[in-house]
Amino acid sequence: MLELTGLRRTFGDLVALDDVSFAVTEGHIVGFVGPNGAGKTTAMRIALGVLTPDAGHVRWRGVPVDAQIRRSFGYMPEERGLYPKMRVLEQLTYLARLHGVAPTDARRRAQETIEVLGVAARAKDRVEALSLGNQQRVQLASALVHEPDLLVLDEPFSGLDPVGVDVLSGVLRRQATNHGVPVVFSSHQLDLVERICDSVVLIDDGRIVADGTIGELRARRERRLFLVDVLGEADGWHATIPGVELVDTTDDGLVFELGEDVDEQRLLDLARTSGDVVRFGPVHPSLAELFREVVGHE
Ligand SMILES: Nc1ncnc2c1ncn2[C@@H]1O[C@H](COP(=O)(O)OP(=O)(O)OP(=O)(O)O)[C@@H](O)[C@H]1O
Ligand SMILES: [Mg+2]
Repeated sequence: MLELTGLRRTFGDLVALDDVSFAVTEGHIVGFVGPNGAGKTTAMRIALGVLTPDAGHVRWRGVPVDAQIRRSFGYMPEERGLYPKMRVLEQLTYLARLHGVAPTDARRRAQETIEVLGVAARAKDRVEALSLGNQQRVQLASALVHEPDLLVLDEPFSGLDPVGVDVLSGVLRRQATNHGVPVVFSSHQLDLVERICDSVVLIDDGRIVADGTIGELRARRERRLFLVDVLGEADGWHATIPGVELVDTTDDGLVFELGEDVDEQRLLDLARTSGDVVRFGPVHPSLAELFREVVGHE
């Protein structure tokens, strides 16, 4: 398990991280999300020892992370760090060696990894000659080539085409489920995070503002929204119900926010008196909607 505890980091007057704590456990994929400038990269850099915190600490399997332990991690930094002039296979073999893979295994691992990530055809090309997305795939290969014990990936999905997204999703899932590797990655693609991750850590302005499974985040939300779709409805049938407010009109029906003590069956009863109810049920917000609610942006 990777544990970040009470991390604080300032840059001059700016507090980039303020008492940031969360954990990534074996076999779990954690999505690290938050607005631009929230502190994701800063926290990940600290986790990898690239940056030191002003306070707090990072532990891996209960012990402070040192250079030796760090070699067993797979890291994809925000600033991509490949050697542009080096050829793909040669570069990955070299990086595997740096991470302590035996010479006899390094090239085989490099070859296998580029095959998995779909860039084997570019093995002999210089990195600089590759398209952005293919460079990204090689960058991912460099995080995976040494069979890491932990994966910390800063926006690994950016720049990938839909096939690349599927490939990487599959790779991360297998790493977590089959090999027990804890995975944490940052992303602004919240639909992707919702689909792939076991849990989500939401950071805003240097503070963790939500942490849990998507289900838990939904349950903690205060708003109670219900969708009602009535065939042949008379306009305004809902106008007089106390504690019920129409908040949205969608193609699927009307969305109401219900006050805490309003029984949703009362809404249903009224809807039925005005026509045939073809849809009725709670609205499950997407991660993107939860994000907007929590960080307060529309
Ligand atoms: N080296 C630095 N010097 C000064 N300020 C920095 C430095 N690194 C980060 N910051 C500031 O710390 C805050 C957090 O930045 P960080 O890069 O961690 O955000 P982020 O969540 O990764 O954002 P993004 O989604 O845009 O990548 C920002 O206000 C940023 O300007
Ligand atoms: Mg960042």
